[in-house]
Amino acid sequence: MSMIDYEGLKKETGGRRKLLKKVIAINSSKRKKRTYSLLQQMKDKLKKENIKVDIINLSDYKIEQCIGCEMCLRNNECKINDDVKTLMDLLKEYDGIILSTPVYMNNVCGRLKVFVDRTCKWMHRPELVAVPIMFVVTTAGSGAKRTLEYLENISLQWGTFATDKIYRKARTLSIPIILKEYKSFVKHIFMSKNFYRPSINQLIQFQVQKVLADKILIIDKEYWKMKGWMYKDYFFDADISLVNLVVSKIFYKFLSSRIRKVEQ
Ligand SMILES: Cc1cc2nc3c(=O)[nH]c(=O)nc-3n(C[C@H](O)[C@H](O)[C@H](O)COP(=O)(O)O)c2cc1C
Repeated sequence: MSMIDYEGLKKETGGRRKLLKKVIAINSSKRKKRTYSLLQQMKDKLKKENIKVDIINLSDYKIEQCIGCEMCLRNNECKINDDVKTLMDLLKEYDGIILSTPVYMNNVCGRLKVFVDRTCKWMHRPELVAVPIMFVVTTAGSGAKRTLEYLENISLQWGTFATDKIYRKARTLSIPIILKEYKSFVKHIFMSKNFYRPSINQLIQFQVQKVLADKILIIDKEYWKMKGWMYKDYFFDADISLVNLVVSKIFYKFLSSRIRKVEQ
């Protein structure tokens, strides 16, 4: 049985809670050990919330390093023939994402970074807008905070909606995951997008991407126009606080006045 009291959320969820939702959990470690064990726990926990979790291992996919040609940015195509397109398409099929990594040298592991580099076009033309995302990190002892900050930054660039963060050190790995650690993720999966409250970072990132779309690449501008984002304050109608709205609008005006239009 679900442990979350959704009574207060009835209005927001509008009954959608009854529907089965799907989440993809990405294990970036080559091993199926510490990080994977937390993903397994999450899978069991979320099953009780009517959410099915598919765990995938990045190491099962062929992911080559970016060669820096910028074809994905300029032509929306990548010359490299591997599994990255399949993976990116796969992510779009889910109602939520759990992104995980072991800490390597105080940051995400290289396997995840190589994949993230290859998703660079999503920074210009986001395709995972409003998809709730949460992060799972394990470490021997150090670097979790910095790694989580970086994961949040990836989320900003993808346009996903960052919710919860779970991390364990080697000595705290046996502490079971509790509801408080993933409640926001579950809530956002069932909640109507109109009730989402974007942070100031999310609003600012939106404005940065909008200025880039307006000034730099025509392909981006066409995409943003097609999506109807050019004259918006955020990707979708959300519950934006007045202060954040004003700050992000001022930021947009400032940035827009500083960046010159580049003809392709
Ligand atoms: C290449 C490498 C670099 C690592 N760097 C760090 C580090 O900077 N700080 C730390 O506390 N642990 C570090 N670790 C330990 C791992 O973060 C830790 O063992 C993690 O829980 C492994 O997750 P896994 O079992 O899912 O692979 C490193 C491990 C490896 C293999």
